[in-house]
Amino acid sequence: KNIVILISGRGSNMQAIVRAARSEQWPCRIAAVIANRADAEGLVFAAEHGIATAVVPSKTFPSREEFDAALRTEIDKYSPDLVVLAGFMRILTPAFVDHYDGRMLNIHPSLLPSFPGLATHNQALAAGVKFHGATVHFVTAALDHGPIVEQAVVPVLPEDTEHALAERVLVQEHIIYPRAVRSFIEGRLAIDNGIVRVVTP
Ligand code: GRF
Repeated sequence: KNIVILISGRGSNMQAIVRAARSEQWPCRIAAVIANRADAEGLVFAAEHGIATAVVPSKTFPSREEFDAALRTEIDKYSPDLVVLAGFMRILTPAFVDHYDGRMLNIHPSLLPSFPGLATHNQALAAGVKFHGATVHFVTAALDHGPIVEQAVVPVLPEDTEHALAERVLVQEHIIYPRAVRSFIEGRLAIDNGIVRVVTP
């Protein structure tokens, strides 16, 4: 199975997936890491680990449709069975999402359906929730929606700052994202009426 990972920045989730795939010897190949900006730091790690890298610079495209078409062409060079969004900070067009229907995952730093969108840790602090977390979900046309694969919960502590909370959530992201990708690769995820069921292949 081929996996293509999309990043926009640091790529710590991508790194967690690459490390897990290697140490646990998943039956798959991380075929490429693709970024929408040339300065995405995660590209360095990918190249150092012998993974093909590519940049499709979102800024240079006049429209979302044209960017998504170019991105899709680049991704499909690697014949992916799974596309993994790992801190990929772009809203995708419905046509793009449709093309990868049932084979594209995202991680969102909140307990969806609470706090979709940006600045999720600030949203959680402002709402005064006592628990927060992260969600891995299949990507559908509605932003930060889609069948939920994995979630992890962390406490919100009285003195928390956005940074402290983000760090606590990130530790959990690095656990649940590799686990979700592995489940997909091993054919253990079925979507039934918008609900993910873990099945024995
Ligand atoms: C993560 O918190 C992810 O959930 C969010 O953006 C951050 C990306 O971090 N969408 P990294 O690039 O994986 O280090």
